[in-house]
Amino acid sequence: MSKALIVYGSTTGNTETVAGHVGATLHKAGWETTIKSAADVSAAGLAKGYDLVLLGCSTWGDEDIELQDDFVPLFDDLDQAGLSGVKVAVFGCGDSGYTHFCGAVDAIEEKAETLGALVVAGSLKIDGDPDKNEVVAWAQTVADHA
Ligand SMILES: Cc1cc2nc3c(=O)[nH]c(=O)nc-3n(C[C@H](O)[C@H](O)[C@H](O)COP(=O)(O)O)c2cc1C
Repeated sequence: MSKALIVYGSTTGNTETVAGHVGATLHKAGWETTIKSAADVSAAGLAKGYDLVLLGCSTWGDEDIELQDDFVPLFDDLDQAGLSGVKVAVFGCGDSGYTHFCGAVDAIEEKAETLGALVVAGSLKIDGDPDKNEVVAWAQTVADHA
């Protein structure tokens, strides 16, 4: 069975909720799925043993893009995660009222691509409260392309 790892950074729980829906959808699609908070992982060798890595992070800050606090150390050391040649998809929650809507998602996707990750589906940027149907549809697309 193919293995997927979902790592999320979430302060008020929105991106955590999305991670849960993504995990459930992949599980139904036949993936062995592991979900972890960014607070509980270290970057070194993160992707080892996984066929697909999903990175979820909300955006904070205002004038500058700030990643959710727990995700910052992982982002900084992402080059140690072993993402080269690994299938990756990125998601996160934000608010389109801010200048950099879901800027963290763009930053993570860009860095992962620079590190040689194979981004399998366009990122998922959630505006406001997560809509389960939107998340499930995206996760299904990821499953279909991974
Ligand atoms: C002080 C503050 C700054 C924020 N900055 C941004 C931002 O720059 N871009 C964005 O898209 N959303 C921004 N947001 C919205 C959050 O990302 C949004 O509430 C998100 O759902 C939080 O997700 P989480 O519960 O997973 O942490 C900001 C919210 C607050 C309270």
